[in-house]
Amino acid sequence: MLVCENVSYVYKTKYQKIEAVKNVSIKFEPGKMYAITGESGSGKSTLLSLLSGLDHPSDGNIYFNGENMRNIDRDLYRLKEISIIYQMFYLFPLLTSVENVMLPLQLQGVRDSCAKKIAKECIYKVGLSEKNFSQYPKMMSGGEQQRIAIARALATGGHIILADEPTGNLDSKNEKKIVDILKRLASEQGYLVIVVTHNHEVSQKADCIFTMKDGEIIKVTNQS
Ligand SMILES: Nc1ncnc2c1ncn2[C@@H]1O[C@H](COP(=O)(O)OP(=O)(O)OP(=O)(O)O)[C@@H](O)[C@H]1O
Ligand SMILES: [Mg+2]
Repeated sequence: MLVCENVSYVYKTKYQKIEAVKNVSIKFEPGKMYAITGESGSGKSTLLSLLSGLDHPSDGNIYFNGENMRNIDRDLYRLKEISIIYQMFYLFPLLTSVENVMLPLQLQGVRDSCAKKIAKECIYKVGLSEKNFSQYPKMMSGGEQQRIAIARALATGGHIILADEPTGNLDSKNEKKIVDILKRLASEQGYLVIVVTHNHEVSQKADCIFTMKDGEIIKVTNQS
């Protein structure tokens, strides 16, 4: 579904070149949860942003369903196929939870009534209920906010979830809930889930762990 072939990425600044990702080859399959781990600065977020279609690799290729990403419309790919979940939930403070989840659908031109229906279904999917529909982000706990962010990611219908430290701001109880939701989305609903994490509890739940160091994958641990 998503394949990296000898992918490298260089940040060029005025004074130096930083090789953030070096010669990474990985085949990601749907229905699985992958963890990318490694020390700070090892290139995890850079790799994730390449997978998200934000930029092309400096060298090597990424394939989505067999198509080279260089040949596909990256804006469309970003809008339709992938959902990104961040450590900071980035919910809009002036929108209720339902409205937050509706937003990406509305941006795709989905009718309001239909967007609302899908938004509510997605909120149920992450284990929240009707009482949360009209809550504003600040009225919700961190764990609930992150679940709304996941619901928003589900709403657009893409089947790839990319998460960068999704539990970084949560206590261990909420962390467990979020990981369980991500894991279930992979195993029960066929999503491809790729999680960048420093957290051992999170990576232990993944089907496969990639450890990065200085831009390279130095270890692959299969757990399924
Ligand atoms: N916009 C940028 N311009 C220049 N260098 C960058 C940029 N973003 C990241 N880097 C460098 O690329 C390398 C990899 O960074 P990246 O953010 O991918 O690491 P990371 O593994 O996600 O780290 P962390 O765990 O701290 O989030 C680092 O050396 C970093 O300094
Ligand atoms: Mg990072």
